[in-house]
Amino acid sequence: MYVNRASGLGRATIRNLLSAGGYVSILDMNEEGGQALVQELPEGHAKFFQCDVSDTESIAQAVSGSLSWIKDSGKELGGIIAAAGVSTPAKILDKHGDPFDLRGFDFVMNINVRGSIDLVRQLLPHLTRVEPEKEDGERGVIVLVSSSAA
Ligand SMILES: NC(=O)c1ccc[n+]([C@@H]2O[C@H](COP(=O)([O-])OP(=O)(O)OC[C@H]3O[C@@H](n4cnc5c(N)ncnc54)[C@H](O)[C@@H]3O)[C@@H](O)[C@H]2O)c1
Repeated sequence: MYVNRASGLGRATIRNLLSAGGYVSILDMNEEGGQALVQELPEGHAKFFQCDVSDTESIAQAVSGSLSWIKDSGKELGGIIAAAGVSTPAKILDKHGDPFDLRGFDFVMNINVRGSIDLVRQLLPHLTRVEPEKEDGERGVIVLVSSSAA
């Protein structure tokens, strides 16, 4: 199982999956937080890969490392949870009547939307090759965490 994020919502999701006996590959920008989280989890059930979802090559490297880990552990990729998110709240017009700065908008969209789609885009070819376990043909799940920020 694939989870993106080492804190907040992602962290809670990881704990929940592990309590059900799952395995998680954790992708997050925050190396210190990610490694610390792995230390708290049952040994061998979680591995951290540093990843900036706004950087396609960074995702590619984390995906490659994760797939190797999954292969070595003899498990299958079971799903993708894209939950990296940032927020730079702004009103369309500020108190002086001036429009918000697009740099903040681009920053949020690049991580919350483009980053989530890029992660799914790069993992999906691998998920579609997983052998379905049940007769409904399901190969795994994809969860996209949304945000009022984007
Ligand atoms: N917390 C909630 O109740 C809630 C509810 C609905 C939606 N959301 C949305 O979910 C998202 C996360 O919320 P949260 O409260 O868990 O936030 P959080 O700040 O606790 O966690 C954000 C995580 O994303 C990681 N991150 C940031 N930029 C990254 C990047 N470029 N590449 C990889 N990782 C990156 C951070 O290192 C951090 O671990 C946000 O978009 C938020 O709006 C949260």
